[in-house]
Amino acid sequence: MRIGIESSKKKTSLLCGFVLENSTTVLGLGKFDAKTSSIIEQSVKDMGGKLGKLNIIPLSGKNSIQRILLAGLGKKENITKDTIRSISGKIAQKARELKLKEFSIIVPPSFVENVISSVSQIVEGSKMGLYKFDNFKSEKSENSPDLTIIVSKSNKITKAIKSAEIIANGAIFTKSLANLPPNECTPTILANFAKTISKNNKLTCKVISEPELKKRGFGGISAVGQGSKNQPKLIVLEYNGSKNEKPIVLVGKAVTFDTGGISLKPSDKMDEMKFDKCGGCTVLGIMKAISELKLSINVVGIVPSVENMPGGESYRPGDIIKLYSGKTAEILNTDAEGRLILADALSYGEKAYSPEAIIDFATLTGACIVALGTNVSGMVSNNEKLTKRIYDASSRTTEEVWELPLNQDYMDMIKSEIADMKNVGIGKAAGTITAAAFLRNAIEDTPWVHLDIAGVAWTQTGTKEKSYNPKGATGFGVRLVLDYLQNL
Ligand code: BES
Ligand code: MN
Ligand code: ZN
Repeated sequence: MRIGIESSKKKTSLLCGFVLENSTTVLGLGKFDAKTSSIIEQSVKDMGGKLGKLNIIPLSGKNSIQRILLAGLGKKENITKDTIRSISGKIAQKARELKLKEFSIIVPPSFVENVISSVSQIVEGSKMGLYKFDNFKSEKSENSPDLTIIVSKSNKITKAIKSAEIIANGAIFTKSLANLPPNECTPTILANFAKTISKNNKLTCKVISEPELKKRGFGGISAVGQGSKNQPKLIVLEYNGSKNEKPIVLVGKAVTFDTGGISLKPSDKMDEMKFDKCGGCTVLGIMKAISELKLSINVVGIVPSVENMPGGESYRPGDIIKLYSGKTAEILNTDAEGRLILADALSYGEKAYSPEAIIDFATLTGACIVALGTNVSGMVSNNEKLTKRIYDASSRTTEEVWELPLNQDYMDMIKSEIADMKNVGIGKAAGTITAAAFLRNAIEDTPWVHLDIAGVAWTQTGTKEKSYNPKGATGFGVRLVLDYLQNL
């Protein structure tokens, strides 16, 4: 999909304009002859501008505009920072369904929505809406039509389009990795994907493998990884966009398949545990986008990747392991594996880079789905300023987060009688928080935010339908954290 800008459209197969609820006009639509105008007017009345409604008006053969598409925006007071993105996704899908080579969208005037925000939403919605996971289908979906955005040109608009394209591509990269089946995405394969994005000279990639992992003290990654013939990897991407600034460290859980290990999961929906690598894929998508946006900051992406399998070599309930921090952990459930690999990665990130802040992403607990459902990510932190910034980025991007508390009582719940910690809390109580408490032990006092994306990383029961998030991985966190990084 190529994206262009024009200040008015003379020739197109589909010209899309937005309509507010109960309004009689198409926002920003130019003049037409009397007969066409009255057809448009009638059509606008009929569709009533209802949110998400699309209405196509075929124009006569003489017209260089072949069709007009009316897109309902709903009531003006109900418009959110997601409305135009969602509708743009639908429009792009409609254009593809009609097998068009190109289509055009008129940017609504600023009294509806800030023009830069509208433009970004149009780009993100259309690009993400056209992504389809069809790698393994013999019959591929049709080609993506090109988009012309109708808006008065300026440098700011051109820049906004460019950066929205990069951000959307980052989210699409994350989705396309996360959707891969577990036989086609082992830790080694994931590490190779990480290497492909590090061609840019400001982005470098190192991969630590066994036996070096064990030798260097990554006891969590080694223990969880030892049960699979697909060996564990620690992927480290460094982006250098500024001279002497402390970096931001991003850590993402990449369990390429989580069977639960010896504490085997039930078979129902176990296939979905291919998505247990989503946190790591989010970090890779963000790193790719940062290097293309050429941000003047330093960022390190750390992705511990393992396959959690049961077998003769697997780690067991009862084992006591030593983490990278030097602390010991008693394993009581091998299905609580995410916190073990993340703890190593977090400690390493803090020790090796003395970062300004650490943000981690992980499909960490089923308990997070119980607490917050499938449309809001859990957030646990040790720093109010950082959570405020993430909330701000969340309100701009509409990737929703909600903070859960972490105090000493929760820290006490993971204390072990025979080791420094145990890898599960007390029964099912506060499962998301006790998991976060385990992570909290991996770092000293660096500002840190943990995002539990178990409910939001892929579409599941209860996921609110969004045109730009078709079935499968959602790329949650990519837009959120890029927004945070762009507003540091
Ligand atoms: N990857 C899972 C968490 C998960 C489960 C995410 C379902 C999304 C959907 C994680 O490794 C896990 O198994 N967590 C356990 C922890 C428990 C053993 C303390 C859980 O949530 O049941
Ligand atoms: Mn697990
Ligand atoms: Zn897991």
